[in-house]
Amino acid sequence: MSVTVRVPAKVNVQLGVGAARPDGFHPLATVFLAVSLFDEVTATPAAELTVTCEGPDADQVPLDRTNLAARAAEVLAARAGVEPAVHLHIAKNIPVAGGMAGGSADGAAALLACDTLWGLDTPRTELLDLCAELGSDVPFSLLGGAALGTGRGELLTPVDAGSFHWVFAVADGGLSTPAVFREFDRLTAGTTVPEPEASPALLAALASGDPDRLAPALSNGLQAASLSLRPALADTFAAGIGAGALAALVSGSGPTTAFLVRDEEGAAKVAAALEASGTCRTTRTASGPVPGATVLPA
Ligand code: C5P
Repeated sequence: MSVTVRVPAKVNVQLGVGAARPDGFHPLATVFLAVSLFDEVTATPAAELTVTCEGPDADQVPLDRTNLAARAAEVLAARAGVEPAVHLHIAKNIPVAGGMAGGSADGAAALLACDTLWGLDTPRTELLDLCAELGSDVPFSLLGGAALGTGRGELLTPVDAGSFHWVFAVADGGLSTPAVFREFDRLTAGTTVPEPEASPALLAALASGDPDRLAPALSNGLQAASLSLRPALADTFAAGIGAGALAALVSGSGPTTAFLVRDEEGAAKVAAALEASGTCRTTRTASGPVPGATVLPA
C-alpha cells in the first residue's frame, strides 16, 4: 500500500519584508498564491527512511536527511512515537531552489502522505504547527489557495482571490534563500526598514480577479536583493514585458521570474518569446489559486 500527495508551487504576489528580528528571521507581510505547478510525493512502507526523486532537475535535489520530505517524516514519526520506516518518492516538477517553495511543498506533501499512510489522522492545526517547524513556507504548501502570511510567513489567514494566469521563467541555477535575505540586509543597512503591512490595493485586486488591476499592485521586497545577486534577471524581465506580459516580478527569493498574463493565449505567447530570448533556461505556464497538498485517490 502507498499514499500519493499532490502539492502546488507558490508565488508571492506581495512580499513585504521588515528588518531582521533578533532570531535572524525577517518579519513578513506576504500574500501567497498557490499555482498549478505540482510535485507528487509517494510514501510507501520500507525498512528505513529513504528518498528518491525523478524529474528534469532531480539531480539537484538532496536525497539525505536535509530534504524537507525526509525531515517531515522524522518529525511526524517522533510526535506519533513510531519509526519513520518509509520510502518517499518525489516526482518533481516545481523548479528547484527557484523561489517557488518546491522544497517546502515536498515537506508538506510528505507530512500529509505519512500521516495518511500511518493512519494517524493528526488534526489539521497540529499538522500546520509541524509544517511551521519545518520551514516558513511549509504551512502554506499544506493550505494552498491564497493566504496572507505574517510572522516569518508561517501564520496564515486565507484571503479571497480570483483566478490568474502566469508564466514562470526558470533561471539557470538556484539562489539560496538565506543568501538573498543577507543581501537584503546588506542593501538596507543604515536605512529604516518599515514594518511590513499587507497592501489593501493588492488584496482588493486579487479578490477582483482582474489582471489589469493586479499587475500594478504586485510587489516583492526581496526583488532588489535577487537582482543584485543575479543582474541578468533584468534581461528576463525585459523579454517577458516586451512579449506583452502585464507585469513581471521575482518569485519569492528568486531566481524564478513570474509574469502575469491576461489569459492562456497570452501565456503561450510570452512563454514562447521567453524561450526564444535565451534569457532563461525554460518556462512553465500555470494558473492559480489551486488547492494545497491533497491525497490522490488510490
Ligand atoms: O524558514 P526557512 O527554513 O524556509 O528559512 C530559510 C532561511 O531563510 C532562514 O534560515 C533565514 O535565513 C531566511 N528567512 C528569513 N526570514 C523569513 C524566512 C526565511 O530571514 N521570514
